[in-house]
Amino acid sequence: MGKTILITGGAGFIGSHVVRLFVKKYPQYTIVNLDKLTYAGNLENLKDIENEPNYIFERADIVNAEEIFVLFEKYSFDGVIHLAAESHVDRSIANPMEFVFANVVGTINLLNAAKKSWNNMEGKRFYHVSTDEVYGSLGDEGLFTENTAYDPRSPYSASKASSDHFVRAWNHTFGLPVVISNCSNNYGPNQFPEKLLPLFINNIITEKPLPVYGKGENVRDWLFVIDHARAIDLIYHEGKNGETYNIGGHNEWKNLDLIKLLCSIMDKKLKREPGTSEKLITYVKDRAGHDLRYAIDASKLQKELGWVPSLQFEEGLEKTVDWYLANKEWINNVTSGDYQKYYKEQYEERK
Ligand code: NAD
Ligand code: TYD
Repeated sequence: MGKTILITGGAGFIGSHVVRLFVKKYPQYTIVNLDKLTYAGNLENLKDIENEPNYIFERADIVNAEEIFVLFEKYSFDGVIHLAAESHVDRSIANPMEFVFANVVGTINLLNAAKKSWNNMEGKRFYHVSTDEVYGSLGDEGLFTENTAYDPRSPYSASKASSDHFVRAWNHTFGLPVVISNCSNNYGPNQFPEKLLPLFINNIITEKPLPVYGKGENVRDWLFVIDHARAIDLIYHEGKNGETYNIGGHNEWKNLDLIKLLCSIMDKKLKREPGTSEKLITYVKDRAGHDLRYAIDASKLQKELGWVPSLQFEEGLEKTVDWYLANKEWINNVTSGDYQKYYKEQYEERK
């Protein structure tokens, strides 16, 4: 009762769904959303809950240790759910240092602030939200389990793997009560249109090329973002200290098959001739070091905490498409700024 919880990165894609879920489900908690509002953070994502009495927004940079410590002093947080990060693999290839600062240094600053302010660790919890990409890349067979050895291969996954190790180190060395989850690829409303699905939805709407990296044979395991938020809620409240939980949708798709499914849904929704969107598919130079396949074994989370995804993939994908079609203004707003320049450079380089 009456707890104050810090959620970092709450203005981003997944963070905004987690903030909404906590603000609505737990009116007895005070939820403090800490976000730097980078290109990926957008307060429009939280318009519907911004005036709730148990919601507070603080603009701050987790790389700035002093700023973070002042906030811990101000609010005496009972728990932290840490999502703030640089999250896009292509950007990590173009600019790795940003990822080291935000994902590694930023996480250590939060760990230090929690350690310093939690004289009594009883009832406290530091929840670090991470990715399945820390486990590396799979061949045609097998699944990542919580015991799979770390083998990160992109600057993004290396920075997230590093932050996971620091979180475990603060648990082992300083007794900080932590929990970690590693989740597969998320999709859904409010995802910035640089990741595969929202980028392709936006390009289909605006009739631009769909840049498929390599042959489109890479495989990803897709999970609806609200199912990830539900898992985070469960793990935050019921996960065991020091444990790791994998989260995934048992929903593997080869990129090209997924893109073709998306194209057919978009043709229907936009009342275009069947096959119209597929004509936009353009094969471009592959991503450097492109991981072949990710797939999660989420049986620990299912067995121990009873979590299963709530939504069938086709249903989730239709919901997502409907959301982007109904929120063209959101797309325009988030892609103003330097997005057009970034996207042009990415696309030109791959041609
Ligand atoms: P996102 O890029 O949409 O949002 C990241 C948020 O963090 C933004 O609001 C941004 O402003 C904020 N942020 C970035 N740097 C910051 C800083 N220095 N200080 C304060 N705030 C900062 O990311 P997302 O896709 O919502 O991912 C959220 C978390 O979940 C990340 O930690 C990511 O590694 C992890 N994750 C993502 C996926 C996925 O498919 N997107 C899957 C598994 C895990
Ligand atoms: P992405 O959404 O960037 O997530 P991640 O790399 O973290 O899995 O990419 C998902 C897959 O789609 C990945 O195999 C790369 C591929 N992809 C493209 O083929 N074209 C694109 O324009 C993008 C952004 C991704």
